[in-house]
Amino acid sequence: SVKCKIGPSVLNADLSDLSEASTKLLDSGADYLHLDVMDGHFVPNLTFGHPVVKCLRNKIPKAFFETHMMVSKPEQWIEPMADAKVDQYTFHIEPVSDVPSICRQVKEAGMKVGLALKPGTGVEVVAKYIDMADMVLIMTVEPGFGGQKFMTNMMDKVRWLRENYPSLDIEVDGGVGPSTIDACAQAGANMIVSGTAVTGATDPSQVIKTLRNSVEK
Ligand code: DX5
Ligand code: ZN
Repeated sequence: SVKCKIGPSVLNADLSDLSEASTKLLDSGADYLHLDVMDGHFVPNLTFGHPVVKCLRNKIPKAFFETHMMVSKPEQWIEPMADAKVDQYTFHIEPVSDVPSICRQVKEAGMKVGLALKPGTGVEVVAKYIDMADMVLIMTVEPGFGGQKFMTNMMDKVRWLRENYPSLDIEVDGGVGPSTIDACAQAGANMIVSGTAVTGATDPSQVIKTLRNSVEK
């Protein structure tokens, strides 16, 4: 069976002091940090890249960093993110022509491989790459912004993955919070990204506990 891990997204946190916002999340019980990298091409929004991640790593040397690469050319950022000591490189397969090649490059750079699917991408697309990946991310919103509405119908993809790959790490991301976590847990997700529900909470540690209790039930 797979371990439950909670990885808040810092996207809607106070990015003017990312290390303080990140440290707060880790002190509130987060297992890892989900860092949303957007290039303004793959998604109609722009956030931060490897220079910021590298500085964050200098301040937070130990935590598990997952970069969620919402970018058109994920191959372009493998080396810079590996240099920033990123632990998990999760990229969208939609803009990529040679997924196995990118998986190989990410592994050679010393990072774990995450394959991300937009809501419109069928889960069968990822089946042929599963043995090259450490994790599959099922987006439960259209990538690009925090604070959007959870797409319940995406749970069919999570269920299909869990039934066919019992020991696969399956991550959900987008609109996940106390009111939507039960659907994710029942479908079989074990890596939980939550942004606004955590960073907007008066007590983030209580929200993280609620998310964990639902998945570990
Ligand atoms: C959206 C990002 C998500 C988002 C999650 O493109 O990939 O990680 O920040 O934030 P919430 O939980 O607010 O939807
Ligand atoms: Zn994300």
